Amino acid sequence: MNAPASTPSDARGLDRYAVAGNPVAHSRSPSIHALFAAQTGQTLDYGRLLCPLDGFKATLTEFVQQGARGCNVTVPFKFEAFEMAARHTPRAVLAHAANTLRFDSEADGGWLADNTDGVGLVRDITANAGVPLQGRRVLLLGAGGASAGVLGPLIEQRPRELVLANRTVDKARALVERHQAWATQHGVALQARALTDAGEGFDVLINGTAASLGGGEVPVGAQALKPGSLALDMMYGPAAQPFLDWARAQGAMARDGLGMLVEQAAESFALWRGVRPDTRPVLAQLRAEVDSLTPEATR
Ligand code: ATR
Repeated sequence: MNAPASTPSDARGLDRYAVAGNPVAHSRSPSIHALFAAQTGQTLDYGRLLCPLDGFKATLTEFVQQGARGCNVTVPFKFEAFEMAARHTPRAVLAHAANTLRFDSEADGGWLADNTDGVGLVRDITANAGVPLQGRRVLLLGAGGASAGVLGPLIEQRPRELVLANRTVDKARALVERHQAWATQHGVALQARALTDAGEGFDVLINGTAASLGGGEVPVGAQALKPGSLALDMMYGPAAQPFLDWARAQGAMARDGLGMLVEQAAESFALWRGVRPDTRPVLAQLRAEVDSLTPEATR
């Protein structure tokens, strides 16, 4: 049974949204969107949609039949969500993946797929942390779904140099190749490297690997940082802690993925509702909750 977690829209006249994935029980998106809705005076219902691994399409189809207007998409369905949409934003095309769907009718052009992860990360770095990316040297670790989702928007910020380092260097090369024209257009020196040869003294280091989920070490040496660098892990909660401790020990500014989570949600909310919430109070509230509950690490 693919029943969504809460009642259909027509029962209460609410526009319905959800985070679709497997698992979704841990997701903080429902609380974030409830805070956004309250702040902006929007009336909507945002729940969790647990999709069987072989039943993403069927679950979404049923959700739409019940009057849903859109959804966020999380692991492992971001690629499938991208494939299912009729239309795609340019940043979703670069990522080959979608974290946001808007269920526009066929008359309006059909489902729209977006990827707000990268703009969420960029906004957290530049606005929340106050660190400009333009003209800087940036190192992004990992070449999986998390890094693919953010590479395009990072390039758009016009860093001087952007190194993508991965354990499996061929995966980094493939991702770099796909973004090369975008990088050239923005005057960015984009390169793929092995983790063991990532380089030294970056201004900004972003960890998009899943190394910490398996209890692994920080996948790059301390030489990658310098005092005053920003070191950000896209995870939050306990799994991010070793990376944050390591970064602080090098004199870097350490940051987890909670700000990115709230910012990507705000961008999705704006796509659906046409109004952008103020993320600061929401991030502050979420930070207090996460610090007190020490939830499972995720991103
Ligand atoms: P996600 O969608 O979370 O990015 P993914 O697509 O499976 O997950 O990608 C995981 C990333 O973490 C990959 O870049 C992976 O490196 P490989 O491409 O070499 O597999 C990286 N990763 C996972 N465990 C790691 C570890 N212990 N050390 C370094 N990199 C690791």
